[in-house]
Amino acid sequence: MFGVRLRFLGLPLLTLTFGCQVFAQAQVGSAPSITFDQNAKVFRIDAADISYAFGVNERGELQPLYWGGRLGASDVLPPAHSSHEVAAFDLSSSVSPQEFAGWGAGLYVEPALKITFPDGNRDLVLHYVSHHIDGSSLTVTLKDISRDVFVELRYEVDPASGIIGRSAVIQNKTKDPLTVESASAATWTLPHGTDYSLYYLTGRWGSETSLQHEAVRPGQRVLESRRGSTGHQNNPWFAVEQGPTGDEDTGDVWFGALAWSGSWRITVEQDQLQQVRVTGGFNPFDFGYRLAPGESLKTPIFYGGYSHHGVGGASRLLHRFEITEILPERPNPKPRPVLYNSWEATEFKVDEPGQAALAEKAASIGIERFVMDDGWFGQRADDHAGLGDWYVNPQKFPHGLKPLIDKVHSLGMDFGLWVEPEMVNPNSDLYRAHPDWVLNFTGRPRTEGRNQLVLNLARPDVRAYVYGFLDKLLNENDIAFLKWDYNRNWSEPGWPAVSPDEQKQVWVKYTENLYSILAELREKHPKVEIEDCSGGGGRIDLGLIHHTDEVWTSDNTDPFDRLSIQDGFSYAYTPGVMMAWVTDSPHWLNHRTTSLEYRFLSSMQGSLGLGANLNHWQPEDFAEAKSMIEAYKQIRETVQHGALYRLVSPRDGSEQSVTESVAEDGHQAVVFTFLHSSTMGFHYPRVFLRGLEKNANYKMTPIAGKATKETPETASGAYWMSHGFDPDLVGDFQAAAFRLERTSN
Ligand code: GLA
Repeated sequence: MFGVRLRFLGLPLLTLTFGCQVFAQAQVGSAPSITFDQNAKVFRIDAADISYAFGVNERGELQPLYWGGRLGASDVLPPAHSSHEVAAFDLSSSVSPQEFAGWGAGLYVEPALKITFPDGNRDLVLHYVSHHIDGSSLTVTLKDISRDVFVELRYEVDPASGIIGRSAVIQNKTKDPLTVESASAATWTLPHGTDYSLYYLTGRWGSETSLQHEAVRPGQRVLESRRGSTGHQNNPWFAVEQGPTGDEDTGDVWFGALAWSGSWRITVEQDQLQQVRVTGGFNPFDFGYRLAPGESLKTPIFYGGYSHHGVGGASRLLHRFEITEILPERPNPKPRPVLYNSWEATEFKVDEPGQAALAEKAASIGIERFVMDDGWFGQRADDHAGLGDWYVNPQKFPHGLKPLIDKVHSLGMDFGLWVEPEMVNPNSDLYRAHPDWVLNFTGRPRTEGRNQLVLNLARPDVRAYVYGFLDKLLNENDIAFLKWDYNRNWSEPGWPAVSPDEQKQVWVKYTENLYSILAELREKHPKVEIEDCSGGGGRIDLGLIHHTDEVWTSDNTDPFDRLSIQDGFSYAYTPGVMMAWVTDSPHWLNHRTTSLEYRFLSSMQGSLGLGANLNHWQPEDFAEAKSMIEAYKQIRETVQHGALYRLVSPRDGSEQSVTESVAEDGHQAVVFTFLHSSTMGFHYPRVFLRGLEKNANYKMTPIAGKATKETPETASGAYWMSHGFDPDLVGDFQAAAFRLERTSN
C-alpha cells in the first residue's frame, strides 16, 4: 500500500505552527467513520482511501483542515485556528479558509452564500451552531451572527469510493423576505500549494467534451452555463492535479462534479496567498432568489473525490460511483441494449411502412431496441411545426402507434420513442392556445432557436401538461424507452405570471420540476428507460443521469471525431451511459470515409447503437454488422461497467488512440486500438495493458483486426502489462480490438 503525505490546509504560517509529517496506510473498503472531537472541535470523515476534516475555529467559523489520502485512525489533527491578517489589506476574515463562507465581515474570496436583506443589510457571517451524525451522513448547522438565517451543510460519504456529496439548505427564519444573491453547494479547499493544474471540459454543438488542461494560476478560472441548462460549452466537472503530470494513473488528483442541470458555475480560485479552492453551485448571474419567511432553498449536490492514482484513478472512482450511487438502476444497472435509431436514416419522414421496414432489417442483425425519432406527432413535417402537440400524426400513422409497436415486438425488440417535452413551436395548437406558457418578458420579442420556444416548466400548469401528456403516452402505448430531447437554450427568461420579485426563481424551479417529472414518471412507469439528449450532449450532468439511463453523447457521429469526444466524456461519465451510434459513410459532417469495422469499433467503446440508413446497406454490410453486434454482446458488460484505462490519448492531433476496459471481477479485458494515418513507414507503438493480475494468464482473441504474428495467444498479466503487444495496424483510419479472457488465477 502507498504512503500518503499529510497536508495541512491554510497558510504556510499555520503549516509551520502545526505541520508534522504523518504517513498512513490506506484503508481501502473499510467502513466509513464520521467523528466529532468535542475538545478540539474537529470533524473528521474517513472512508475508502480518503480522509476529510474541518474544525470550528475560535470565532465559530467552519474551517477546512484536510482532504486527501486516508490518515491513520490514531492521527490527531490540529484544531482550527483563524489566520492572522497579512496586512491591513488581507483581513483575517478573508484569509482564513472557510468550509462555507457567507459574504460579510470583509471577505474578498469567492463567497459560498450572499444575501440581501430588505433593510439593505448585506452582511452575512455564518457560525457553527450544532451538528448531527447519522451513519454515512453529517449535517452541520450554521447561523448568521445576528439574524435568523440558518444554513444546514450536508455531507454524505460513499463508503466505496470516498466521494463526498456536499449541499446546503438555506433557511429564512426571519420575519421578512430576503434575497439570495448567490448560493453554492460547497467550497472544496485544497492543500496549500502552487503546483496545481486543472482539467475541465469545453465544447459546442457537434464537438462536446473536449478536455482542457492548464496550470492553476492566481485569479479565477470560471466554468459555467448561463443558458438555463447545463450547456455544451462547459460541463460541470473538474479535476485538479498536484505536481508534474505525465501519467494518467499516477499523481494526486482532487475532482468534483455538480449535480445540476440548470445554469451553474464552478469557480477554481487561487488567492493572493496561493490558497486554491473550488466553489460550485447555482450560477449567481441574474440569480436573485427571493426566500419568504419560513422558506428554504436547497442547493444542488456538489460531489468531490480524491485519488492517488491520477486522473485515470479519479475517473474510475467516479464511474463506479455513478454506477452504484447515481444512475436510476443503481447499484446494478442492466447492460444497455443495442438500439437502432431512425434519425439519420429518415429524419422527419417517418411513417408506419418505412419504420416497419427499418425495424425488420434492424432485427435481422441482433438489434434489441428500435427507437423512432423525431417526426411522428402533431403536424411535424420539419422543424418549423408541431412541437407541443403530442398526438400521433394521423397521416403518417393512420392506426396510431400500435401496429408499429406490435411489429417491433414481433421482431423480438422493444420499442422506444423520441420526445421533446419542454419545447413548443409557435406553429402549434399548444402555442396558439397558451402563448403565455413560454419563457418571455411581457411586450418583448421571443427569440426563437430552431424555430422553437422554451415552455416555462416552473409554471404549475406547464408542469401538469408535460407530465400529463407523457403519462398518457406511456399508458396508451407499450413503450420501453423515451429519448428525451431539449434542442435549444433559454432566451428572455421571464415569468410574468408571478410577482416581479419572484420571477428569478425560474432559474431553480424549472429544473426542480424537470427532475420531479422524471422521478414521478419513472415511479409510475418503472419499466420505462430514458435517454437524456440536448442536441447531442448539451445537458449531461450528475443531476440528470440520476433520472436517466443513458445519454446521447453528440450529434456528431463521425467515428474519428467521436474518439476525442468520447475520450473527454470518459473523464466525467461512465462509458456505460455513453450512447454511440454507427452511422453512414462518408459522414454527413466531415465527409470522411471510414470502414464499417472502424465505425463499429469506435461506437463499441460505449453503449452501442446503430443510426445508419439500413435501406442502403448491402448483404455484406448486414453480415458484418451482425457479427460485430454479436461480438459486442460478449464484451458490453466489461465496456459499460468495467474499469477504464485510457492508454493512448486521441487528443492534440495524436495519430493513435487506445483504451482498455477491465471487467469488475477481472475475468475479461477489452482493448480498442485506432490509427489515424501511418507515416514514413513507422510501426504502431507498442501497447502496454494495465489493471491485469500479474500472475494470472490471459488468452487474447481479436474482435476485429489483428496483432502482429509474434503476439502470443496466451500470456501472463505481467507479459501483457510489461512486455506489451503490437497491433498490426497500417494505413488510414484503421482499427483493431482484442478480448482477453483470464484463463488461470
Ligand atoms: C436533436 C438530437 C438528434 C435528433 C434530432 C431530432 O438534434 O440530438 O439526435 O433526435 O434532435 O430533431
